Amino acid sequence: MSSPDPSRPQIQRILVVGAGAMGSQIAMVFALAGHDVTLQDVIESGLTRAGAQLADRMGAAVAKGRMSQACAEEALGRLSFSTDLDQAASTADFVIEAATEKLEIKQQIFAALDRAVPAHAILATNSSTYGSSKVASVTSRPERVCNVHFFNPALVMKCVEVVRHPQTSQETIDVVMELVRTIGKQPVLLNQEVPGFVANRLMGVLRDEALNLYSSGVASIEDIDAAAKTALGHPMGPFELMDLVGLDVNCMIAQATYEETGDPADLPHPIMQKMYESGRLGRKSGMGWYNYETTR
Ligand code: 3HC
Repeated sequence: MSSPDPSRPQIQRILVVGAGAMGSQIAMVFALAGHDVTLQDVIESGLTRAGAQLADRMGAAVAKGRMSQACAEEALGRLSFSTDLDQAASTADFVIEAATEKLEIKQQIFAALDRAVPAHAILATNSSTYGSSKVASVTSRPERVCNVHFFNPALVMKCVEVVRHPQTSQETIDVVMELVRTIGKQPVLLNQEVPGFVANRLMGVLRDEALNLYSSGVASIEDIDAAAKTALGHPMGPFELMDLVGLDVNCMIAQATYEETGDPADLPHPIMQKMYESGRLGRKSGMGWYNYETTR
């Protein structure tokens, strides 16, 4: 194994902005890999919930014999929580933003981060809908900005897409690819921004075909999911996956993709949109394509 290049910035202190399902698990992934991590959110109760959920997850991993109690405690001890973005950013070597998928909010965060972080810090967004050029443009360091896109659930899924924009420097890409490897993930590099990146584009094709087959009465939700799992070897069927990711997130991604491409084929599928509008968001609301009320 090659030793780290001493001329490259070393990444120890991580800031994760946004304590939702993605941000909190991303923070835990870095803490488990030995980094000092701050999880920041403007909503204090979101931080408390994230802390409790992560402690439960680590407890379950210990109970299953997946890790030692000491390892879990050390990792949780490397994790701190803050509502103060400026203070949390002031010592960060690497920041990953996992806030709401609203460009205006992300741009506000990036402008604030750019003012607060040290000069060497790299700023990344976990967004799957916005290429990082859209947030790099509000910073004074576009060469140190890129997308670093984790998958749900981030503690489990190995893939992390790293997407460069035209001004991202090669050094930034080298540092980020190495960082992703050292946290035990598989980096997938995209050399240009393309709506949906790689994995969501692949997932979107399967999902829309599943929705077409179901809405035209060819097969049931359960049987389409069964085919994806038992014929294709997918861990979940497309309907189960929509419920895991959330119908709201699926619709938002499709809508944002359409806004980029202008191609009506990229619009949210009408029956997916209908589910979203009726409040059936999947696991998070207790009801999606499947009923989770009894399993919550
Ligand atoms: N959070 C953290 N860990 C979880 C979890 C969650 N929500 N759900 C399950 N796990 C862990 C379990 O603790 C277990 O860990 P262990 O192996 O250490 O015991 C492991 O995952 C397996 O869990 P289960 O045995 O309970 O269940 P499964 O074997 O069915 O696995 C799954 C669950 C990992 C979610 C699996 O079904 C899977 O890989 N599904 C596909 C997920 C996927 O495709 N994600 C990508 C979504 S797209 C996306 O995120 C892009 C974004 O832009 C929208």
